Amino acid sequence: MNQFEKPVLSVKNLNKQFGKGCSHCRQADSPSLIKNYCRVCGTVYACREVSFDVFPGEVLGIVGESGSGKSTLMQCLYFDQPVSSGEAYMNSYENGHQNLFGESSQQQRYIRNHMIGKVYQNPLLGLKMDFSSIGNIAEKLIAAGGTNVGVMEERGSDLLNQVNIPVHRRKEAPKNFSGGMQQRVQIAKALSNKPPLLLLDEVTTGLDLSVQANVLDLIKGLQHELQISIVLVSHDLGVIRMLADRTLVMLEGRVIEQGLTDQILEDPQHAYTQQLVHSLL
Ligand SMILES: Nc1ncnc2c1ncn2[C@@H]1O[C@H](COP(=O)(O)OP(=O)(O)OP(=O)(O)O)[C@@H](O)[C@H]1O
Ligand SMILES: [Mg+2]
Ligand SMILES: [Zn+2]
Repeated sequence: MNQFEKPVLSVKNLNKQFGKGCSHCRQADSPSLIKNYCRVCGTVYACREVSFDVFPGEVLGIVGESGSGKSTLMQCLYFDQPVSSGEAYMNSYENGHQNLFGESSQQQRYIRNHMIGKVYQNPLLGLKMDFSSIGNIAEKLIAAGGTNVGVMEERGSDLLNQVNIPVHRRKEAPKNFSGGMQQRVQIAKALSNKPPLLLLDEVTTGLDLSVQANVLDLIKGLQHELQISIVLVSHDLGVIRMLADRTLVMLEGRVIEQGLTDQILEDPQHAYTQQLVHSLL
């Protein structure tokens, strides 16, 4: 990580709410809010004033309980969901001067296809289960302008090899693969355009512990080799501890604490983080 370089991604005051809000919940500290949910109108304030930077070659961990807004944040960054307000800048796009959320959907597609890779919590969202594995990768390459079948075939085989999927199984559909293999195909697909930024949402959740370790080792190795920047979301502090240089802690849509992962683990400041760290011991 190099904090003296310009951030790869810079997010400022990102807000995402599901629902229109009402006169009750729009006031600060409204009694109508249960956590980030308005009991009067049913609006969920999923992300609230989220700001952070991701530096070159850095793994930024995001940890928080179920419902704290982690996946929503990742969806917003991948343009799967429009934000309610806020800004994001990527150094690789217009030199970091253009707010990504203000761009047209066509432009956002371009950014997503060329500059960001994403692994979904649910592989059904990230892969076409009936396509061949290499076809899934080719789809992303084509979206980024790839046309040469031979070149794409070779790149796809290389990638599958990198994530330890035997090349002779490249024509098989992910639906025939184990959970760990499916996540590895997602990782290969996400890496295919050599994006400067990788978004990983609970890549190992739901996998057996031994498979988890294997996928985490893979990510660690690839990160080291490619010097890519990663945002790694997990509700599991153990996963964060293994991979993240720096960590944000989210609670009810807000970032309540951030710092070097070691510091957060050794000296958590917020009561919620203290509880999280103690449950790890
Ligand atoms: N499409 C949607 N419509 C309405 N509410 C939503 C939608 N997507 C998410 N939410 C709400 O936003 C809040 C945050 O959800 P999110 O999936 O971001 O949490 P999370 O931190 O990823 O949780 P988990 O650890 O369980 O994956 C939740 O209250 C959820 O119900
Ligand atoms: Mg989630
Ligand atoms: Zn309300």
